[in-house]
Parts: sequence; C-alpha cells; structure tokens
Amino acid sequence: MKSRVFSGIQPSGVITLGNYLGALNQFVALQDSHESFYCVVNLHALTLPQNQDPAMLRARTLDLAALYLACGLDPKRATLFIQGDVPAHAELGWIMQCVVHMGELSRMTQYKEKSDGKDAVLAGLFTYPALMAADILLYDTALVPVGDDQKQHIELTRDLALRFNNRFGDTFVVPDILLMKEGARIMSLDDPTKKMSKSNPVPGSRIEMLDPPDEIRKKISRAVTDSGREIRYDPSEKAAVSNLLAIFSLITNTPIAQLVDQYEGQGYGPFKKDLAEAIVEHLEPIQERFSHIRSSDEITEILTEGAARADAVATKTLARVKATLGL
Ligand code: ADP
Ligand code: NA
Repeated sequence: MKSRVFSGIQPSGVITLGNYLGALNQFVALQDSHESFYCVVNLHALTLPQNQDPAMLRARTLDLAALYLACGLDPKRATLFIQGDVPAHAELGWIMQCVVHMGELSRMTQYKEKSDGKDAVLAGLFTYPALMAADILLYDTALVPVGDDQKQHIELTRDLALRFNNRFGDTFVVPDILLMKEGARIMSLDDPTKKMSKSNPVPGSRIEMLDPPDEIRKKISRAVTDSGREIRYDPSEKAAVSNLLAIFSLITNTPIAQLVDQYEGQGYGPFKKDLAEAIVEHLEPIQERFSHIRSSDEITEILTEGAARADAVATKTLARVKATLGL
C-alpha cells in the first residue's frame, strides 16, 4: 500500500505564489508516489471574522478547489474535497481539543501573530491547531507537505498523536512534515521579513495565482530590493533579492547559482523584468485551465466524489478513536 499524504489550504483569499511554491506544487508532485488527500479547509477559514461572508466564502472555496485542479491535481489519482463536507473533521477536532493543553496552544506563533492587536479574537483561532491535528490524523497520514509556517502545528500534531497513543494504546499514525528547500518560505514583496500570505491586507505584498499579467509586472517592478545593485543570494544580508531569486529559480526550474551568473553586473531592472515575464508565462496556462474548470459542472462532481472517498476513510478512523475512548 502507498503511504498517505494529507494537506490543506484555507479558502481565505486567492492563493499566492507562496502557497503554490511552498505547498501546492508539492501536492501535485506527490500524487503518483502516495495515496493523497487534499482539502479546502473551509472550517479553518471561519477562525477570522473577515472570512465569515457566506457568498464570499462559498466562492473562494470553489475558486480554491478549481485552482488545485488547474495546478495539476488529478482527481483520479488524488482525493480532493472540502473539509466541511466530511463531518468527522469537526468531531475529531473536538476530541483533540480535549487532548491538547492550553499552554501548548498559547505558544503557537501563528495564533500570536493573527490575534496581535485585536480585541475580539475568536476562540476557534486559538483552538485551530486541534482541528488541524484532527484533519491530519483522520487519514493515518504519513507525510504532510506544508510551508515552513506550519512546522509548529505539525510538531504539535505529532505530540498529540504520541500523547494519545501513550495514554490509550496505538491509535494514530504519527505524521512527518515535508518541507520544500527554497519554497518553504516565500517572503512578501513589500517586506522580506514577513512571509507572503493571502491574508496580508497589502495586495502589493503578494502575487496571486489569478493576477492578470500587467498586475504581476507592476507588483514585481514595485517589489522592494535591498541596497546596492548586486544580485546575490544571501537571505540574511540581501533578503529581498534572495526571495526574488528563490521565486525565479523555482518557477523556471533553474539553479539559483545559474541565475546569479546570468544577471551578474546587470542591476535589478533587467532581472525584475525577466522574472515578471517568467511568472506571467508560468501562470498563464494555469489561469486558462482555471477559467475552464471553474465554469464547468465537473467541479461539483469532483468534490462530491472526493468527499465520499475522504468520508469513508475518516469515518473509520473516527470510529476507532471513539471506541478507544469509550464514546
Ligand atoms: P496563507 O498563510 O497564505 O493564508 P494557508 O494558511 O492557507 O496560507 O496555508 C496553505 C499552505 O501554504 C500551507 O502549507 C502553508 O504552509 C503554505 N504557505 C503559506 N504561505 C507560504 C509562503 N509564504 N511560502 C511558502 N509556503 C507558504
Ligand atoms: Na498559513
């Protein structure tokens, strides 16, 4: 039997080049070698009040599902579904809330960042890692491909699985994290100390997968660069240029050293121009497939079928957990 892979993305905006290079790209690469489950985690999107617009959430959910497919996910080889369509997620999520400690949740940096400076913080934002652990553990997942920002949550998932197994006997598979080397942390275009995110309020901070060509050109030309004119890969001294080099390298499948050689002595202008064109060229076929898939009925069928396949696995795991707990 092939080992299982699970991962999810929140429908909290149009996914970014960061989501694509750090996560989605790997999802596609793993669909042959692994039995894979990929999810639109709409329950997680509820953790921020700005995502609780019913029509918008529904549209973003379908957009994201269509983008998964447009990026190369094949529903024959991988299971694509919406988290909220499989009730076992919420149910195991509750159980995991009764396994995790308050102290562990309060140490999560994502919680600290997302709650910082807000006076009405939803309880779900705090307990989110328990639901995420449930998402992963329901599929007896061996491997979780994610970006670097999710590392802490995966470590917590491992701790919770081990804690449960030690207390009640072997119940959960303890998952491993799978990180990309360069893509694991794509930074914002306006501030290389922050990760690129679809939830960042500054649109110029990110390339969205559905940005039109001119928007991409504008965003890249306005991207901050470091002082000096030199194109060099040095994430600590030249964070902004290094981030652009990482994007360029991943998108064109060219080693960073080769790009550095190629642009030696040329300054930022030509480099940015070529980078923008490379992104435009890479995203064009994805965007074309997206429009086609999003406007077809096929997407509803794929998601219904995906939910049924996911439900069959998740229900079994949940039954095992409930029996273990005397529920
Ligand atoms: P966001 O933070 O953009 O709202 P999600 O929380 O939905 O994205 O994360 C979806 C996936 O994309 C996760 O695996 C996450 O680690 C990955 N990811 C998010 N931002 C980046 C980034 N800037 N670089 C690399 N991977 C990222
Ligand atoms: Na994230």
